Amino acid sequence: MAAERVGIGLVGCGFISEIYLKNLATYDGVEVVACADAMPERARARAEQFGIAKAVPVPELLADPAVDLVLNLTIPVAHAEVALAAVAAGKSVYGEKPLTIAREDGRRLLDEAGARGVRVGSAPDTFLGAGLQTCRALLDGGAIGEPVAATAFMLGHGPEGWHPDPAFYYQVGGGPLFDMGPYYLTALVSMLGPVRRVTGSARASFPERTIGSQPKAGEKIPVEVATHVAAVLDFAGGTVATLVTSFDVWASEAPKLELYGAAGSMSLPDPNTFGGPVRLRSAGEEGWTDVPVTRPYAANSRGVGPADMAIALRAGRPHRASGELAFHVLDVMHAIEEASASGRHVEITSTCERPAPLPAGLAEGELDR
Ligand SMILES: NC(=O)c1ccc[n+]([C@@H]2O[C@H](COP(=O)([O-])OP(=O)(O)OC[C@H]3O[C@@H](n4cnc5c(N)ncnc54)[C@H](O)[C@@H]3O)[C@@H](O)[C@H]2O)c1
Repeated sequence: MAAERVGIGLVGCGFISEIYLKNLATYDGVEVVACADAMPERARARAEQFGIAKAVPVPELLADPAVDLVLNLTIPVAHAEVALAAVAAGKSVYGEKPLTIAREDGRRLLDEAGARGVRVGSAPDTFLGAGLQTCRALLDGGAIGEPVAATAFMLGHGPEGWHPDPAFYYQVGGGPLFDMGPYYLTALVSMLGPVRRVTGSARASFPERTIGSQPKAGEKIPVEVATHVAAVLDFAGGTVATLVTSFDVWASEAPKLELYGAAGSMSLPDPNTFGGPVRLRSAGEEGWTDVPVTRPYAANSRGVGPADMAIALRAGRPHRASGELAFHVLDVMHAIEEASASGRHVEITSTCERPAPLPAGLAEGELDR
């Protein structure tokens, strides 16, 4: 690896790659040096748009000595294959969520990366945003006392109204739990630590969905996954959380994310965003108090996770959006589905450390003081 900069190779130049490329260009010492896509015209278009030196086939990108870190922004069914190929080529890899679809693939990815001395990182990185980092500092500072319980609600009617190619959301690896659950679960685990056991109920409410967005408006999507999932999670630290994720709800006033402590309550921002609002209400207070969100990464900062990983690689420190955290979240999601199918609690065998908080006093574009 060149001492002064970390070279990133992007695989998967679709919808979400644009914001990553826009944001990654703002970090010193991080450079996207090549891009690839199964549809080569997409790679060429992104290379032209962002001045990336090379748009190449995937094998060429993986063999490129200028690439230290592969950024895997393919669709969920391709996550494992691309990530395992990157690791086999001796590269560290950061991927979009979920880490992989199958648990076995996620475990294998972490094991093979460990054996080769490369790293694995995974989205979401929203927990590094200004809003959730403010919440983390409040929680760790004792603002609500000992955490007792949490609620998390992702209630919507699915992405087929706006995403240009939404079929993957209804295939294995998609659905509200595997698609949106990682934001909520990663936020909760980053605050409360690992989960000990889960139970839940899931259903697939409608056998097919109709695309409302162009260019495929009117096409039908068969539904292969549960589209309403309700879960109860016991954290190793004792907190009990309720999580409901749904693509079957037309309207709701449920809060996105709340933490309840022995001394008060915290209202957290939507964990699929980077900013606020953050509100607190202590025991006995009449109303909620808005907490100013003054940290960096309040705008759409997708890419802060791989930037932190690239800088961590160079500095030799742990990265925050880690493969262990993402694997634990994947394990919990599978366990929720197993609990629903079997009608019991499922013990969680994986674990992870809480990622280190970002230090206070950082400016936009900084990750270390
Ligand atoms: N769309 C969003 O708002 C959003 C937000 C956050 C995260 N994500 C996640 O980002 C990932 C990508 O989503 P998207 O919306 O950009 O999808 P997309 O379909 O727009 O883009 C994915 C790209 O990956 C390419 N690809 C697929 N398999 C490949 C392979 N084996 N090798 C090389 N290229 C391959 C496709 O050709 C496509 O260009 C998903 O995991 C999704 O969950 C999406």
